[in-house]
Amino acid sequence: MGPGAVARLADEVASGGHKTVFLVTDAGLVKAGIAEKIEALLDGKGCKVVRFDKVEPDPRLETAVAAVKEAKSSQASMIIGLGGGSALDIAKVAAILVTNDGPLDPYFGIGLVPKPGLQTILIPTTAGTGSEVTPIAILSDEKEKLKKGIVSPYLFPSVAICDPELTLGLPPQVTAATGMDALIHSVEAFTSKNATGLTDMFARRAMALVFANLRTAFANGQNLSARTAMMEGSLLAGMAFANAGVTAVHAFAYPIGAEFHIPHGIANSIMLPPVMAFNMLGNLEKFAQMAAIFGQSTQGLTQREAAQKMVAAIRELAGDLQVPATLSQYGVKETHIPALAKGVMKVTRLLANNPRQLTLQDAEAIYRQVL
Ligand SMILES: [Fe+2]
Repeated sequence: MGPGAVARLADEVASGGHKTVFLVTDAGLVKAGIAEKIEALLDGKGCKVVRFDKVEPDPRLETAVAAVKEAKSSQASMIIGLGGGSALDIAKVAAILVTNDGPLDPYFGIGLVPKPGLQTILIPTTAGTGSEVTPIAILSDEKEKLKKGIVSPYLFPSVAICDPELTLGLPPQVTAATGMDALIHSVEAFTSKNATGLTDMFARRAMALVFANLRTAFANGQNLSARTAMMEGSLLAGMAFANAGVTAVHAFAYPIGAEFHIPHGIANSIMLPPVMAFNMLGNLEKFAQMAAIFGQSTQGLTQREAAQKMVAAIRELAGDLQVPATLSQYGVKETHIPALAKGVMKVTRLLANNPRQLTLQDAEAIYRQVL
């Protein structure tokens, strides 16, 4: 972790004795010259790189299957993921599918992958999804209009290399959306029913770093110290939620992401304020603590008043970052809400972590607040 860290890539590959690696990335990173830079690092050390650059946003099941096919024929012994959460998730899934035969379907769920995959090195280029340190991969099932998750310890990478210099060129909107996602990972891990003292330690520092630096990274993408803080925040948020889990904000984001193709960070950001206002009663103490972590003055306030300041602070942040705040601009209508709310209730994996119990009626009311 740190500026220039990616220079260590070739040594990491060589230490495993790998002669051919399979690079999973997207066309944007090829265009930006970043994929080539990574390949040059390996070429120089005599390592052959086979590139797969067809990862799209909200990657589909079919993309993972296509990547596996090419990975197998490349004979690579290691997979490198380079990109945002989509490329990293496809790299993780490809790595386990090379060694686990058959279709993808039986692996959706928790702990259903039988064998470890190929070794992986994950290099995030956003800050971010935290996918470089989580045991989770999310794929879109276009037929069922669902986002499906594979959760398995075999999805943890062998190595994560977090180099903030790779994020210097991210446009402000992407910085904002992915940065909000990182903030939400830390907030949700901190308020998850599975939070522990250990995960809180990661989540607290992640929240403080992201809240204090996201505005600067958005406003001045070339500011390396803000980018470094964001990369560290995103990494720590990933470590927090890899262990404590995320909660209802992500459960609300998945149905609208799958059906209306709202980018993950934006879908999360839209859902954050109403879900926080709802969840607050489930853990007033931690919500009050978050207000202080976000630099709000809480002196003389009741816990409830301080908790409300936390919700106000995140609304203000999303406003400053000009992140969209409503669903209607993505084509969501009142008539879609009942089905979307049912979709939320199906994300039982995440709702089980939520600090406040949620009903179907609650889910509909929460969507309506941000229509
Ligand atoms: Fe996320």
